Amino acid sequence: MRIDILTLLPRLLDGPFADSILERAQERGICEIHIHNIRDYSTAKQKQTDDYQFGGGAGMVMTIQPIDDLITKLKSERAYDEIIYLTPDGERLNQRTCNTLSLKENIILLCGHYKGVDQRVRDHFITREISIGDYVLSGGELAAAVVVDAIVRLIPGVMNDETSALTDSFQDDLLAPPVYTRPAEYKGWGIPDVLLSGHFGKIEEWRMSEAIKKTRERRPDLLDPSDRNG
Ligand code: ADE
Repeated sequence: MRIDILTLLPRLLDGPFADSILERAQERGICEIHIHNIRDYSTAKQKQTDDYQFGGGAGMVMTIQPIDDLITKLKSERAYDEIIYLTPDGERLNQRTCNTLSLKENIILLCGHYKGVDQRVRDHFITREISIGDYVLSGGELAAAVVVDAIVRLIPGVMNDETSALTDSFQDDLLAPPVYTRPAEYKGWGIPDVLLSGHFGKIEEWRMSEAIKKTRERRPDLLDPSDRNG
């Protein structure tokens, strides 16, 4: 998979991909992440990338020209499956969307700033708009990092134990059950007997019932298909 991230603040993305699972995915050649500075494509004298909004109002808007030139250049080099704009008014990200995106070959992530991008960018280039939650960040960069992390870890070969991504919270619309490791007793705090029983069927049954219990308590909306987002 190849991911191109378009941003005005490339330094914000220095850290998130340089460690752990994302670092390994890139080292193994499973995933390429390319970060592009939108400002480099501005033809304005001062390399300006924003301007006042027509009709007045507070806040600057990112101009279409540098974004058009950058996206057009990338599209001339390869076909993209999705061109995604990170924005608080997009569809809310969930595990299902991550699963779908993890199967794509090439995607572009466009990070907005200020009041966002000129609407014509969204109308003419963007194929999908994603929000990572109902709150407003200062820009799309951290949201892009969240999307990249959530999808790259799902690509086969990225995680050491491939089955572990399948047992994450949300993979079957359930929150994950509790987990324990050694020691079995710590300061008098024990663990559920069933986990020491060696009876695989009973352990699976316990995990499922704990997952359902936790989901019912914390996220009943996940158990109600009519209430689901996406
Ligand atoms: N940009 C600003 N806030 C955002 C959010 N919640 N999700 C995605 N992109 C954003």
